[in-house]
Amino acid sequence: MRDLRDETIPQNGSGVNRRDFLRGSGAAVAVTALATSEQGAVAQDTKKSVRTAEPQDITLNVNGKDHKLKVENRVTLLDALRDDLNLTGCKDVCDTTNCGACTVLIDGKVTYACTRLAVECVGKKIVTVESLAANDPVIAGFVKHDAMQCGFCTPGFVMATKAYCDKNPGATLDQVRKGLGGNICRCGTYVGITACAMELVKKGGK
Ligand code: FES
Ligand code: FES
Repeated sequence: MRDLRDETIPQNGSGVNRRDFLRGSGAAVAVTALATSEQGAVAQDTKKSVRTAEPQDITLNVNGKDHKLKVENRVTLLDALRDDLNLTGCKDVCDTTNCGACTVLIDGKVTYACTRLAVECVGKKIVTVESLAANDPVIAGFVKHDAMQCGFCTPGFVMATKAYCDKNPGATLDQVRKGLGGNICRCGTYVGITACAMELVKKGGK
């Protein structure tokens, strides 16, 4: 009986018999498998490094005090403040830079904490709503003008109002509205917030 394994493959004209061809194919498959497994290993390593990025020790200066914490690079300032430092005044509402509920000040600038990584904020001065005393003029103004309902937007609005009014004494109603345009109140308390801000800018901010 013919051993098909030794038969020459007619169509390629190379004189390679089936046994050589199969051996060659086996080697090619092995090389491909090796390459695939190497790529797989690289992919796995990459995945591993993304998934298990070692937390780093960082220090954040919040409300004038240094706080040491351990965070992965991917952690936002908002999550670090809320989850690691238990400063839950800034709210996680949209998490997509649309609402302003997470507003804090970074080096005096109004900033959405959900847009910053905690590791980016090392060496900066972060100020949250918790820094304000109960008798702070902005908080007192919000109370006086009944500028809150559910309260989810309020801490962010308070920080935005404070920053705006401190920097813009004498601003007009239109300017105040534009200045606070980065924050949204789903309950529609804009009238009270604007009244509070107008009172503050008339008094000359701080
Ligand atoms: S939670 Fe950051 S902008 Fe809405
Ligand atoms: S008070 Fe409810 S979202 Fe502003």
